[in-house]
Amino acid sequence: MKNLLVTGGCGFIGANFIRYVFEETDFTGRIVNLDKLTYAGNPESLADIQRKFASRYVFCRGDICHRSFVAEVLDTYSIDAIAHFAAESHVDRSIVKPDDFIQTNIIGTYTLLQLAREHMPQITRFHHVSTDEVFGSLGETGFFTETTPYSPNSPYSASKASSDHLVRAYHETYKLPVTMSNCSNNYGPFHFPEKLIPLMILNALEGKPLPVYGDGMNVRDWLYVRDHAVAIWMILNKGVTGETYNVGGRNEMKNLDVVNIVCDLLDEMVGKLPDKESRRELITFVKDRPGHDRRYAIDCSKIERQLGWKPAESFDTGIRKTIRWYLDNKDWIAHVRSGDYLKWIAQHYG
Ligand code: NAD
Ligand code: DAU
Repeated sequence: MKNLLVTGGCGFIGANFIRYVFEETDFTGRIVNLDKLTYAGNPESLADIQRKFASRYVFCRGDICHRSFVAEVLDTYSIDAIAHFAAESHVDRSIVKPDDFIQTNIIGTYTLLQLAREHMPQITRFHHVSTDEVFGSLGETGFFTETTPYSPNSPYSASKASSDHLVRAYHETYKLPVTMSNCSNNYGPFHFPEKLIPLMILNALEGKPLPVYGDGMNVRDWLYVRDHAVAIWMILNKGVTGETYNVGGRNEMKNLDVVNIVCDLLDEMVGKLPDKESRRELITFVKDRPGHDRRYAIDCSKIERQLGWKPAESFDTGIRKTIRWYLDNKDWIAHVRSGDYLKWIAQHYG
């Protein structure tokens, strides 16, 4: 692997992945980051990487659905491997307006697969980054394994399920050298503040209401984002073609417990709000998300056993690092929340 194309590298997980590969692995090749820069894409998240690794990092602004543009990138940079992160990723947005989810997650993935197929044998690996949400909802017990039947419940998860099926089909039909991963909820630095954990950190810091959907008893399996980056890197390098790997943190938590922990840690780390005994008083139960999956939990024994992956962070260590990062990166937060951010993109990337 000499020239790795990362799609969606300016998003939360993609940016953490690129950072991990440059800073912590022995990779000596080039990474080409192809990103459309939607509201969720922040090239600023990689500004230091762009400076430090200028000769081995290329950013190309563009849409994965744009066939001739992607073909040009594959040819110009002699791409030999693809790590496909680009997607519309927020469930609530998919419920309000599914259009971009169908376009990017399904048509975009199809466009990449088709081009990768046309670029065989130059392309030696296509890794598709997917989600545990394709499996639907669990009851009180049990875990998602790699053979759990698909049962997606939101437009987001249905679009990801569709892309997973296409990836699998391109392997079976055309022998495209694919691997796939289905991961649980990530958290950590550079997480866009529409998702539960960063939203709660920022609202709680500012003394704003903390909207908890339904009864707050929905369960998610939280994984620190660097651990996900390590898993993807291992799969790219050691994963078996045609195989899929479940990735999870063995950190099942009820949403309400997550929010309580964020409140307590902020009280400890920055002091209490002047008018509140505890930030927990900010918690506000709001209308439930339609089709809200009750519980996710991943059985990640396959990747542990076969590739030797193991998460390094517990929820306790990971959430402290995450809160510290949001406390120390006020400029990034102000930037992604402001209109200036769009101006910055226009100035730098047209
Ligand atoms: P994100 O929303 O933070 O980032 C998505 C990135 O893709 C952004 O930089 C955006 O600009 C880019 N993008 C969107 N549409 C594009 C298009 N048409 N062409 C090119 N670039 C485009 O998402 P994330 O949380 O980093 O998720 C990355 C991947 O991981 C997604 O495929 C998601 O389904 C999957 N995933 C996410 C989680 C999670 O907890 N966040 C868990 C499991 C799997
Ligand atoms: O499981 C993997 C998935 O995790 C990824 O595929 C998605 O891209 C990612 O966004 C995430 O999806 P969720 O819907 O689980 O994440 P979100 O942060 O939106 O919500 C987490 C839980 O918190 C969920 O049960 C809904 C709830 N929630 C969320 C928000 C934003 C609230 O109670 N209040 C909120 O304000």
